Amino acid sequence: DLCRQLLAFSGKGKVLVEPLDLTRLVQDLAPLMHMSLGGAGLRLDLADGLPVVEADATQIRQVVMNLVTNATEAQEDKPGMITLRTRLHDAVREPLSDPVTGRELPAGSYAVIEVEDDGVGMPQEQQSRIFEPFFTTKFMGRGLGLAAVQGIVRAHHGAVTVRSQPLRGSAFAIYLPVVGVRSALSPAPAAIVTTSHQTKPRTIKHVLVVDDEKPVLQVAGQLLTAAGFEVSRAEDGTDALEILAHDPAAVDLVLLDMTMPGLDGLEVLERVRRLRTDLPVLLSSGYGREQVAHVLSADPACGFIQKPYRGQELLESTNAMLRGK
Ligand SMILES: Nc1ncnc2c1ncn2[C@@H]1O[C@H](COP(=O)(O)OP(=O)(O)OP(=O)(O)O)[C@@H](O)[C@H]1O
Ligand SMILES: [Mg+2]
Repeated sequence: DLCRQLLAFSGKGKVLVEPLDLTRLVQDLAPLMHMSLGGAGLRLDLADGLPVVEADATQIRQVVMNLVTNATEAQEDKPGMITLRTRLHDAVREPLSDPVTGRELPAGSYAVIEVEDDGVGMPQEQQSRIFEPFFTTKFMGRGLGLAAVQGIVRAHHGAVTVRSQPLRGSAFAIYLPVVGVRSALSPAPAAIVTTSHQTKPRTIKHVLVVDDEKPVLQVAGQLLTAAGFEVSRAEDGTDALEILAHDPAAVDLVLLDMTMPGLDGLEVLERVRRLRTDLPVLLSSGYGREQVAHVLSADPACGFIQKPYRGQELLESTNAMLRGK
């Protein structure tokens, strides 16, 4: 059973928007959360009969896990209590605005997941920066958890709010419009969660090419552009992660060079997985498949292309990965 949950969590398969009951999603995740809590207690306070939202379950699970991880880390060495709550919010009676953009959300009903902890908390000045990619106060932190949360929730037309007090604790709430509110929304912004029968699929696929060799970056970029892809280019791992963290749902495939100065391919891949467990990544290397055989067998969303590759090979591999191999 746990195995099934781990598989579900690692997000094998396609990005899919479907009707979701957030209470059910939290219940299903609870066993997995228990494993990552350290000594903290977990309290569930879940609303019955919550109206469904239209969302990608894999991505929302990722949001919840990132928030729970932060709540656990906020306990530092005194294990406290983490509360997970689901509830309904009526944005007609209580208007909602995105704390980062200040933009007011469309009126209507929102289903809410709240993750509350009694850990270290944060001063006000810090709260305005925590969603920035790479903002971290932790020794081993990457500063990507909340950037991913923000990106995913925005792509779902929702909002994230924070309440926090130093030494008291923090509460993060994610608001997602319940089905029915959506139809009243203005058309979706360009970069949106992908395919479903209900939302319009994004037809032009977006490939992020990461390579420290400029000629490779240029040629691969031109080939993919000529083949009808939207292309972003990054000369190193840090740039690539910044592009991805900005809107993790907007990229459909990463073409990733394995040998780069700074963060190498494997380090970049590991961080990409913090943002999107399911994103197809095509690893490219001159050293041959053996170099990455262990990754290919462990990560089903990874593929390999041997360098130097011909244009035809690149397009075939790219298309195969986008079809799910
Ligand atoms: N529950 C919380 N309590 C106190 N501070 C928090 C909490 N959640 C986030 N923060 C603050 O926000 C910062 C950014 O969080 P974020 O999850 O984006 O990155 P991180 O946890 O530092 O690293 P990563 O998640 O990439 O491993 C944290 O470093 C911490 O300072
Ligand atoms: Mg984190």
